[in-house]
Amino acid sequence: MTEKTAWETFFDAHAPVYDENVFTKNTVKEVDFLLEELGLATGDTVLDVGCGTGRHSVELAKRGYVVTGLDLSSEMLAKASAAAKAAAVHVQLIRSDATSFSLPEKYDAAICLCEGSFGLLSQTDDPVAQPLSILCNISRSLKPQAKVMATVLSAARMLRTHSNEDVLAGRFDPLTLVESAEMPPREGYPAISVRERGFAATELTLLFRIAGLSVVNMWGGTAGNWGRRILDLDEYEIMIVATKTAEPSAGADALSRAARP
Ligand SMILES: C[S@@+](CC[C@H](N)C(=O)[O-])C[C@H]1O[C@@H](n2cnc3c(N)ncnc32)[C@H](O)[C@@H]1O
Repeated sequence: MTEKTAWETFFDAHAPVYDENVFTKNTVKEVDFLLEELGLATGDTVLDVGCGTGRHSVELAKRGYVVTGLDLSSEMLAKASAAAKAAAVHVQLIRSDATSFSLPEKYDAAICLCEGSFGLLSQTDDPVAQPLSILCNISRSLKPQAKVMATVLSAARMLRTHSNEDVLAGRFDPLTLVESAEMPPREGYPAISVRERGFAATELTLLFRIAGLSVVNMWGGTAGNWGRRILDLDEYEIMIVATKTAEPSAGADALSRAARP
């Protein structure tokens, strides 16, 4: 891999304190929830894209699932490795960019939670191709009829909370639904510029569909507060559950190659 992206710099520095975030405190209940949705049998294989400190990966491994966690940040992966060791479970950990991975195995399910790379854009990522490339890579890693669960930032909330002043100042782009922020130096990392984007439910349905993933459910899925509830306009995140019904279309492949120009 080449030079670190802003998000990699951010998560490398944030890794030591990531698990102190209040939204990470419901992991056991979240794993109960996702197991109900994914319909897995003990011993099935799960791919955790953007696994971070491994909180879902390790909990799944403790319950008998065979888990692979993939992440861009070596420091987040180091925390995941330590967590697996402390829990006396094995989780295969892979350092890779979610926009460009390819794995030899086909999994029984995948998760990509709390953004887990989806919409966390580098300065050069195309806002459509980045999430599409991740979905294509996930889709290719799944067995037919396998399920995927993702939680991603909701554009509705962004549109309600940003002002025209933010648009004029470049803090929010309504054309791409991208928020831009300057993060001051902290936790040992230098000042960085980050970009993250929100999604509308209709666009998600389309992106998943052209990646070969048919959406079966969408709910309000704000981190730390999951539930089967209607997506209201104040939810930070949308939860999507989808089934792999086809391979990514040729058009999706072409478009997703624009993820890293
Ligand atoms: C907010 S954390 C979520 C971690 C975990 N899924 C959870 O629910 O706690 C986002 C994770 O995505 C990872 N990430 C960001 N961009 C990525 C990329 N392009 N490829 C792989 N991982 C990425 C970060 O390193 C970070 O660990």
